[in-house]
Amino acid sequence: MSGDRAYAHLIVLAQDIGSRSAGSDAEFAAADYIADQLTSYGYRASLDAFQVEYFVEQASRLEVLSPEAVTLEPRALHLSASGEATGELVAAGIGRPEDFPAGDLAGRVALLERGELAFSDKMANAAAAGAAAVIVYNNQEGSFRGDLSEESAIPAVSISQAEGQQLVALLAQGPVTVRLSVEAGLEQTTSNNVVARPPDGRCEEVVGAHYDSVDAGPGANDNASGVAVLLETARALALSGEQDGVCLVAFGAEEVGLVGSHRFVATLSGDERQAVRAMINLDMVGVGDQWQLTGSQELVAEVDAEAATIGLDPVPAEMPPGLSADENNFIAAGIPAVLIHRFDDPRYHSSEDQVQFVEPRLLEQATELALLALRVLSGS
Ligand code: BES
Ligand code: ZN
Repeated sequence: MSGDRAYAHLIVLAQDIGSRSAGSDAEFAAADYIADQLTSYGYRASLDAFQVEYFVEQASRLEVLSPEAVTLEPRALHLSASGEATGELVAAGIGRPEDFPAGDLAGRVALLERGELAFSDKMANAAAAGAAAVIVYNNQEGSFRGDLSEESAIPAVSISQAEGQQLVALLAQGPVTVRLSVEAGLEQTTSNNVVARPPDGRCEEVVGAHYDSVDAGPGANDNASGVAVLLETARALALSGEQDGVCLVAFGAEEVGLVGSHRFVATLSGDERQAVRAMINLDMVGVGDQWQLTGSQELVAEVDAEAATIGLDPVPAEMPPGLSADENNFIAAGIPAVLIHRFDDPRYHSSEDQVQFVEPRLLEQATELALLALRVLSGS
């Protein structure tokens, strides 16, 4: 196996093809490339097309108009209604019904702290109290992405803890007027999973990696790196004759809600699902300081215990708060799964997530870790 071969795949995906957002021609070109590679190693590769409906935030704005002009950096909550509201800001705790001040909040904007209640419950309570829009500020450092379980009736955004505290401090001095607007909506597109089966067709283990990227950048580490390692793992297995029972799946439309992996799991028959002993997810494996293993405890412990045999020292880790990846759809379906990753990438989801920051040496190590996990699973 070789880090340089993996790096060559990374160049094709993240430099020649470039940004591969769900449903784009570039995403399709990447699927085609991945299928061709897997076919050339002797697998039976095919594209499985599916529809994707996803939420797009075009623009959100939040300004304090008085007592002084301040521009903040809001993010729409996932599934927020579009719209604009200008009105007095009202702090209402964490958004329990009793946190809202008595009287009608009509035309006013509720400022809520994150925590305890689901975002959808906070929203429902705010709408019931008559609020025209909602701002949720973080209860820990930094900003966050909040998800509603259904479309909200009024616009809703999140802001960082620091910005929230700034608004609370202004409110302590007197009335505050804000203007908030959200432009967002649902879009439909088509994406594909690339599914490669070994010649005998059985999937006892699934090695997966998403191949789409965010719109903002070329997704070299996130996640051309994982796909490059998936391809190199497939080639190594085929060369050593160990490919029986191993399926390789490159997921589309991960960045818009883990859609490809959800689709893959949902379309397994009961028997097929039973036959899959475990899933290994490769996501963000080319940048950063430390190998991390996340997911099903037993699997994480087993791979961790054997890693010294290949000279690596990963740490079992929780997923960074608020983030999610494809192994979760397998775990939710009762299939043990492990995510192999190095998360600390300062260029995550930015235009700077480019090939020159990815280390071939790490791609090679990730391939070794994936092959090790497969050996652990097969008990050899
Ligand atoms: N690559 C990330 C997930 C990830 C985070 C992997 C940390 C390894 C370590 C993934 O592409 C991502 O950004 N996921 C979204 C999922 C969402 C759109 C459902 C996220 O976590 O925000
Ligand atoms: Zn990713």
